[in-house]
Amino acid sequence: MSQLDLAIVLAAGEGTRMKSSRAKVLHEIAGRSLIAHVLHAINQLDAKELRVVVGAAKEEVIDHLNQVSPKAKTVFQEVRGGTGHATRLALEATAENGTVLICAGDTPLLTGNTLSELISKHNSTGASATVLTTQMPDPTGYGRVIRDNSGDLAEIVEEKDANDSQKQTLEINSGVYLFALADLKAALNQVTGNNSQKEEYLTDVIAILRNEGKKVAAFATHDYTEVMGINDRAQLSTCGFIMNARICDALMQSGVTIIDPMSTWIDVTAEIGIDVVIEPGTAIKGATRIGASAVIGPRTTLINTEVGAQAKIFESHCESAIIGAGAQVGPFTHLRAGTKLSDQVRVGSFVEIKNSTIGQSSKVPHLSYVGDATVGAHTNIGAATVVVNYDGVEKHQTVIGDHVRIGSDSMLVAPVTIGDGAYTAAGSVITEDVPAGALGIARSKQSNILGWVLKKRKGTKSAEAATKREGQK
Ligand code: UD1
Ligand code: CA
Repeated sequence: MSQLDLAIVLAAGEGTRMKSSRAKVLHEIAGRSLIAHVLHAINQLDAKELRVVVGAAKEEVIDHLNQVSPKAKTVFQEVRGGTGHATRLALEATAENGTVLICAGDTPLLTGNTLSELISKHNSTGASATVLTTQMPDPTGYGRVIRDNSGDLAEIVEEKDANDSQKQTLEINSGVYLFALADLKAALNQVTGNNSQKEEYLTDVIAILRNEGKKVAAFATHDYTEVMGINDRAQLSTCGFIMNARICDALMQSGVTIIDPMSTWIDVTAEIGIDVVIEPGTAIKGATRIGASAVIGPRTTLINTEVGAQAKIFESHCESAIIGAGAQVGPFTHLRAGTKLSDQVRVGSFVEIKNSTIGQSSKVPHLSYVGDATVGAHTNIGAATVVVNYDGVEKHQTVIGDHVRIGSDSMLVAPVTIGDGAYTAAGSVITEDVPAGALGIARSKQSNILGWVLKKRKGTKSAEAATKREGQK
């Protein structure tokens, strides 16, 4: 049975300190929005109901919530009246009794585990309110947790309202709380905006409940990084760094070698198999999946890409591509959407491939563009080949068979088909189909004008060299 009747996420603030045209909670770390991180942690708790308070950039935020957490109900806060005001709105038409969790949308490092511990603590003490707190090495900007002489939680004072001695306190309010619903509703009716920000503070509820003789408790978590809030871009970067370190640690524990976690950036959504080696300067983004024993990097970016076991990808950029087992890609390869490399394919330097399938063990080793093409197995595409897929208006298909040898510097003007086992001569501009087993050659025949340099470039080093050579004969 769920222990939580309701979870509320406060996300209506403008995020002024981000100086952004986007809502703060939509900014991302590790490939997921701040609010989606929070919802991910809450979703591990199985709350009966989930409400998100939205305000600033509400359409954008609601669209995003529909994608990442469709069962969340949104509550609209039209004017920013403070966290107490936002909570009051979220509590309209809810059950009268039960337990409610409140979080902010800007603390993405929070984990489901810590939330579960908070719930256990709350239930075991039977408190009316339990605040998640921590000792923050630099508490600047956070609400301070003020305890009485016996060490019990007395009140929370915002930085802007704190006196000098209160500011010395390192214990801060994480902005995560559990409340008995009925007590919270009653206390919120007594909150005023009588403070430096003229806002209804949710934090004032703590002193109100205590003055009424209700039990309020603090649960201090030792990992302060979990409750770090993001208010500006510097904090976005700090939290992104911590999240990345967590992801890299978990992967290393699961059998992935990461040579330099400091220069390796991996999204939470990536899946990486055992014995994969990740070299420095590598980013693995989105729904990328990497099979066992692959080697990725150095300096490689993979976005929504599938990589087969034992593939090797060096110094390359790949997006929405599928790379077969044992394939080799790079250095300096660009694989674009719709690329499918079969097993054992080799793609080399300065090659760009888009919307094309390359058959098993085929090679595109140097300086080529392949677009809208199907290439068979065991085929070699010579250096500097270009698939001319675009006539300036439309894109056309190219089909290349098995065991084909495309000569260097061939232009394959689509639509065109090169049959199985066919060759094209180097430097050809192929505009007609080449039947299986044929040599397609499309270039003018070479003629040499003998003695041209001696006649037309008299007195040059070339002429001199040619003469010397003549003399030696
Ligand atoms: C808040 C707490 C502070 C705590 C800190 C933890 C209060 C008064 N202060 O401060 O004690 O240490 O979080 O990170 O609660 N929001 C709304 N509507 C509003 C105002 C805010 O939905 O009218 C939302 C914001 O979008 C945000 C969250 O509530 O997600 C917290 O608001 P924010 O302005 O970031 O509060 P802090 O100053 O960080
Ligand atoms: Ca905040």
